[in-house]
Amino acid sequence: MDWLRNWMMPPQGSAYAGEVDFVYMGIFWLCTVMFIGIAGAAAWFSWRYRFRPGRVTPHDTHNTKLEVIWTVLPLILCIGIFFWGLNGWFKYAVAPGDAMEVQVTAKKWLWQFEYPDGTRTVNEIHVPANKAVKFVMTSEDVIHDFFVPDMRVKHDIIPGRYTEVWFTPTVLGKHRFTCAEYCGKGHSDMHGDLSVDNDVDYAKFLETGGTEWEQYKDHMEQWGKIQYERNGCSTCHTVDGSKSKGPSWKGIWQKMEKLNNGTTVLVDEAYVRESMLYPQAKVVDGFEPIMPSFNNLLRDNQIKGLIAYIQSLQ
Ligand code: CUA
Repeated sequence: MDWLRNWMMPPQGSAYAGEVDFVYMGIFWLCTVMFIGIAGAAAWFSWRYRFRPGRVTPHDTHNTKLEVIWTVLPLILCIGIFFWGLNGWFKYAVAPGDAMEVQVTAKKWLWQFEYPDGTRTVNEIHVPANKAVKFVMTSEDVIHDFFVPDMRVKHDIIPGRYTEVWFTPTVLGKHRFTCAEYCGKGHSDMHGDLSVDNDVDYAKFLETGGTEWEQYKDHMEQWGKIQYERNGCSTCHTVDGSKSKGPSWKGIWQKMEKLNNGTTVLVDEAYVRESMLYPQAKVVDGFEPIMPSFNNLLRDNQIKGLIAYIQSLQ
């Protein structure tokens, strides 16, 4: 009966999709058998005991044996289904300890995902195949619902609270995910693709920093402005020329800057890059050497964006 399951259900994309389907199809067949039995008996009795002139209906008040059977039998069935489902729920509810964690923020009307290394995507997920991945989810406004049919995963996302789902993707390629809780006008736009990648493709994805970057690669200074705010540059560097804990970024490009060792340096790409990765190498005169290193924290496209942003601040 696999053809029926394949026709009724989405493709199985995760390790426990088969298990979910097994319970689902089990209950489906049980319902089918019960429906045929009950509806069939009702039809048969209607015919068999239909009105006939002169027929007298026997007056039975009760039948203890029959009543016990039709009470106890369904009770046992229901308890059986309960434990069958509970067994699956336990697996669904608790992620394995070594699962990769992806932070999910749902808001009207898009999905944001953040990976352990800081990579961010919008409306697109990449996960490595055959490794458990856990989604820790919250909402910035109303209740949304993370639904990945192929993975047999669906869970509410609630503002001010964290909820979790996890699965082990087993089928390479794209799987749809969507919002399954009506959240306003753009509800039907809240969907995207989950790509299950092999290790090579997944590494490539992490290198470039995901799809958010794709949107900005032709607008490097905007990309740099986002990095400026997101990576905390703005806490020490102003962009309007006023003094803060570090030199302002306004108007410094291609200028000669005096350093605290008495020498001067040209503010060019090489110097700015060096200052992000090795901030203590050449400290501008009048400032404390307090900047943390961003070596291994900033990806190349982020550094390039920041440089483009500084260039734009003339
Ligand atoms: Cu978000 Cu519906």
